[in-house]
Amino acid sequence: MTGYLSVLIAILLLSLVFVLISRQRTPQHLRPPGPRPLPLFGNAFHIPKSRGWLAFIKWEKVYQSSLLFASAFGQSILVINSLEHATEFLENRAQTTSGRPMLPLIKMIGWEEQTPVMQYGERWRKHRKVLHQHLRKEVLDRYDSVMMQKSHELLCKLANTPVQFMDHCRVYSAAVIMDILYGYDLASNDDHWFLRAKRVIDTSSLVLAPGAFAVNNFPFLRHIPRWFPGAGFHDFASQLRDFTMEMRDLPYDFAKGSFLKGIGRASLVGTWLQEEAIGREDEMFYRDLAVGAFGAGFDTTSSSLTALIHALVLHPKVQQKAQEQITQVIGSRRLPNLQDRRHLPFLEAIYREVLRWRPPLPLGFPHQTTKDDIYNRYHIPEGTVVLANIWAMTRDESIYTDPEEFRPERYLCSDGSLNDDDRVLAYGFGRRICPGKFLASESFWLAMAQMIATFEFSKPKDQNGDDVELEVHYTDEVLR
Ligand code: HEM
Repeated sequence: MTGYLSVLIAILLLSLVFVLISRQRTPQHLRPPGPRPLPLFGNAFHIPKSRGWLAFIKWEKVYQSSLLFASAFGQSILVINSLEHATEFLENRAQTTSGRPMLPLIKMIGWEEQTPVMQYGERWRKHRKVLHQHLRKEVLDRYDSVMMQKSHELLCKLANTPVQFMDHCRVYSAAVIMDILYGYDLASNDDHWFLRAKRVIDTSSLVLAPGAFAVNNFPFLRHIPRWFPGAGFHDFASQLRDFTMEMRDLPYDFAKGSFLKGIGRASLVGTWLQEEAIGREDEMFYRDLAVGAFGAGFDTTSSSLTALIHALVLHPKVQQKAQEQITQVIGSRRLPNLQDRRHLPFLEAIYREVLRWRPPLPLGFPHQTTKDDIYNRYHIPEGTVVLANIWAMTRDESIYTDPEEFRPERYLCSDGSLNDDDRVLAYGFGRRICPGKFLASESFWLAMAQMIATFEFSKPKDQNGDDVELEVHYTDEVLR
C-alpha cells in the first residue's frame, strides 16, 4: 500500500513538474512588469505572505507601473494599484473579470455556494438579484429600527465596559445582520451563536492566507490520505466544515421555526419563505445565500468602527468639530438618527475618511479572469487572479494629499458642504462590488454619530493623569 502510494505521489509530482515546465516554455506574451520569475516556482518567493498591499506599493515604485504581474506555481496574478486600471479592467471589462478563484480548501470546507466566493454564473446572478432586492438603498429604511436598537445597545456596553470596545463593535456589526437575516436578537457578547460564528470567521482568514496551506497551490494534494504526514489540512477542513454547516443551519432553522409558528421578529428568511413555495433545492439556495451575507457582513462594519475609534482618539479636534455640528444641527436633547444624516456633512466626511484611511479589506477580495484578454497591450491569461490594491488607490497622492493623515476635511468644500468624491473604494469593484454597501454605510454612520454624540474618546491616562501613548496593532489578514 505504502509502495503504491509513493509511486502515485512520484507520478503526480513528475506531472506537476512537466506541467510547470511546459507552461514556462509556451511563448511569453507581453506581461505587465513585476519581479523576475524563477524556474518552476515563478514568483512564489517574491509574493508577500502578509501586508501585500504595502509590498505592492513598493513594487510599483521599482517597476514604474501601477499594473503588476507575478505568478506562483503556474498561477498568474495581476495586481492593480490604480483606480484608473481598476475601473477599466474590473468594471468596463466586468464580463470577463468577475470570477473568483476557487481554492481547493474552499470546496473542502463547503463554502463554494456562498456569494463572496462563488463562481460567476447563473446561480451567482440569482444570489445578487435577491441581495439587491433586500439591501438596495431605497428599501433600507425597513431596517432603521433594528439599527437604532442595536446602536443603543452598543452605547450602553461602551458606557459600562469601555475597555472591551472591540468586542462591542463586533457584536454590533454581527447583531445588525443577524437580526435582518434571521430575526435573531443578538444582545450579549457571550451569545452562543455569536461565539460559534466568530470561530468560523476568525479561522476563515487562514484559509485565504497566501501560502498557509500547500493544498491551495497544489490541488492534487487533497487526494493524499489523512494519515499521511503533512495532511493535517484534512482535519482542519472537516472541522471547519462542521462549524460552517452549524453557522448556516442553526440560525436558518431558528428563523424558519419562528416563521412557521408565526412568532418572533421579522426576518429576510421569513420573507423568502412567505414569498415562495420553497422546495428542498431552493431551501439550500437560501441557506447558502443567508450564511454568505452573514459571513460577509459579520465583521466588516466592526473593522471600520474600531478604526473610527482609533482615529477619534488620535484627533480630538475632529471629534470636537463633529460634536459641535451635532449640537448645532439637532441640539443635545436627543441622539442623531438616520434622517439627520444629510444635515451633518462633517460626519459624512468622517465616514468617507475612515474607509479611505483604514479600508477593512486593503486588497479587496480577489477576482479571477474567465477569458484570455489583451489589456493595455499586455496579455492577461484566462484564470489570472486579480488583486485590486485598495490601499494603494486610497493613498494616491494626486488625489489625496498627505494620504496617511486622517483628515475628513479633504471631502469638504470651503463652505463646509460635501465635495463630489463620494466613491468609497473600500467596497470593491465591478459586478462583485459589495452588495451590502448601503447597509454597511447606514449602520456604520448611525453607530458613529451616536457614539460621537455620547462619548469622548481619548488616550488612557496613567496615575499622574498623563496620556498613555497608544500601542495599536491591526491584524494583517484579508480582513483587517
Ligand atoms: C464597512 C463594511 C463593508 C466593507 C468595507 C465591505 C467590503 C466588501 C468588499 C471589498 C467586497 C468584495 C468586492 C469585490 O470583489 O470587488 C465585498 C463583497 C461582499 N460583501 Fe461586503 N463589505 C462591507 C459590509 C458588508 C455587509 C454589511 C454585508 C451584508 C450583507 C456585505 C455583503 C457582501 C457580500 C455578500 C459580498 C460578496 C459579493 C460577490 O462576491 O458578488 N458586506 N464586500
